[in-house]
Amino acid sequence: MELFIDTANVEKIKQYCEQYPLAGFTCNPTIVTTENRTVEELVNLAPGKRVFVQAIAEDYEGILEDARKLRAMREDIYIKVPCTPDGYRAMYTLKQEGYGILATAVYTVGQALMAAACGVDYVAPYVNRMSDTEIDGCTLVEDIVAAYAAQQIETKVVAASFKNLNQVVRLLVAGADAVTIPLNLFEKLIDNKLTNDAVKVFADQWEAHFNRRSI
Ligand code: G3P
Repeated sequence: MELFIDTANVEKIKQYCEQYPLAGFTCNPTIVTTENRTVEELVNLAPGKRVFVQAIAEDYEGILEDARKLRAMREDIYIKVPCTPDGYRAMYTLKQEGYGILATAVYTVGQALMAAACGVDYVAPYVNRMSDTEIDGCTLVEDIVAAYAAQQIETKVVAASFKNLNQVVRLLVAGADAVTIPLNLFEKLIDNKLTNDAVKVFADQWEAHFNRRSI
């Protein structure tokens, strides 16, 4: 299992990628612009971990150029490329040039299979965004996982686009290899009120008996 955070918050990327067993971080153009950051401020964060930055161009040559610019900033960067007609062409070319590639904005099993045929390292189904349609994100990921198993495809499924932790857990149960979760959900994951309350009672009782909150 690989856990990523989906953010462009520089301070939190530095803190959490150092303190917790995160595999790295992902971002997308909306996240980067909302944080008012630049790609240059992000690409070299989380050294030794996996960093995913999305190409902006929509045409084949433009995606290739964006990818080359990004790899010039960081050799082991992963390029996020959307599952569009030009995106598939670019993924296919970039994989032949040795790039790490994540096929993003996946909504169908067919897209996941096409991206795998291009040789990509990861595919990212947008789980929560599917909830606005008749597609069930969990069922889709189960079908992608089954299709990959049937075809002995090594491409990893990194589920993305979550609005609650139940979705995250369900997708991991469904067989996703990885999830990339928004900062607020990651912080909910590591900081549970019920657990904190239980720990406080333990410490209070210990302190009442031993006059200290430690062994
Ligand atoms: O990178 C894809 C992911 O960030 C989309 O998430 O919450 O915008 O649907 P969201």
